[in-house]
Amino acid sequence: MGGLAVADVVAEARRVLGEMLLILAHHYQRDEIVDVADFRGDSLELSRRAAASAARWIVFCGVHFMAETAAVLAREGQRVLIPREDAGCFLAHTIDYPSLVELWRALSGIMDPDREVLPVAYVNTTADVKAFVGEKGGACCTSSSAEAVLRWAFSQRPRVLFVPDQYLGRNTARRLGIPDDDIAVWDPRFPDLDRERFARARLILWRGTCNVHVRFLPEDVERVRRERPGVRVVVHPECRPEVVELADEVGSTSYIIRTVSASPPGSAWAVGTEERLVARLNKENPDKEVFSLAEVPPFCSYMSLTRPGDLAAILEGLLRGEERNVVEVPPEIRDPARAALERMLEITSA
Ligand code: 13P
Ligand code: SF4
Repeated sequence: MGGLAVADVVAEARRVLGEMLLILAHHYQRDEIVDVADFRGDSLELSRRAAASAARWIVFCGVHFMAETAAVLAREGQRVLIPREDAGCFLAHTIDYPSLVELWRALSGIMDPDREVLPVAYVNTTADVKAFVGEKGGACCTSSSAEAVLRWAFSQRPRVLFVPDQYLGRNTARRLGIPDDDIAVWDPRFPDLDRERFARARLILWRGTCNVHVRFLPEDVERVRRERPGVRVVVHPECRPEVVELADEVGSTSYIIRTVSASPPGSAWAVGTEERLVARLNKENPDKEVFSLAEVPPFCSYMSLTRPGDLAAILEGLLRGEERNVVEVPPEIRDPARAALERMLEITSA
């Protein structure tokens, strides 16, 4: 089928495979990918769609942890395929299973973590990190479910460990009224923890950040307000707390899209999230001014890896009866990781 445009390959795959095929795309994917997907969404919506799907093949256009999440939630016989196996996530790379075990051990020297601390993992983590959290009775969360999950976690145990995004953790803590003084940050590079600080902490954060969202600065908010009077600022909760404090709105990628799309014609928006999404919002809202909050808009190089040819190659494989780039998680990791993800889905549907 060499030479066919991706839209033609998708149409042919849909004609032959019908309901057995589901193509999911995250909002940060290239337009050519988002345009041909069955569904586009934020991480929570995509997890829900994957969990509810009866399709035999879920082709996940996003980064690896998202496809792996779908694989963990998959039913018997379902397969999740990712067009680019090398699509990682800067944030997910800040934590690994051995470092998490090391932190738990260090905490054991000053408290009884198994009784006192409930771990919560942002979905931007590998399945073994989710499995650790599931085994300890904790839950996963996404940017749109972090508040509900943290509230639930504090109803279960006196302290919470939130990994790996320190900014999402602190931004959510502020919404719940937890003072900075009750928060301790664990830096995996310096494993000697400040015993006194950790002993009194209610919330323990991992020192991870997203390389894309860390680029938005408070000076950017001040600059856009100066240069475009009346502008509204909407940002993702992976941004620095100093930026979130100054913004008018904060929320997941889907929340950002809904907020800008629902605003009246003539509105101006400075958006603090990945550039490809901001550019699409600009295109889809010609009656508004929509631009990046940063002077040099940051983009997620991992999300950009998936090109139309990569998606076409996966679909052409399926049409030939070949399953390429299947994401697999061994049962000893999948089962506890699934428990953590299902807790999140239950908390957010309650
Ligand atoms: P959302 O869940 O808001 O789509 O965020 C995913 C992500 O990786 C943001 O950087
Ligand atoms: Fe990961 Fe940041 Fe890219 Fe989101 S934008 S996928 S958190 S690196």
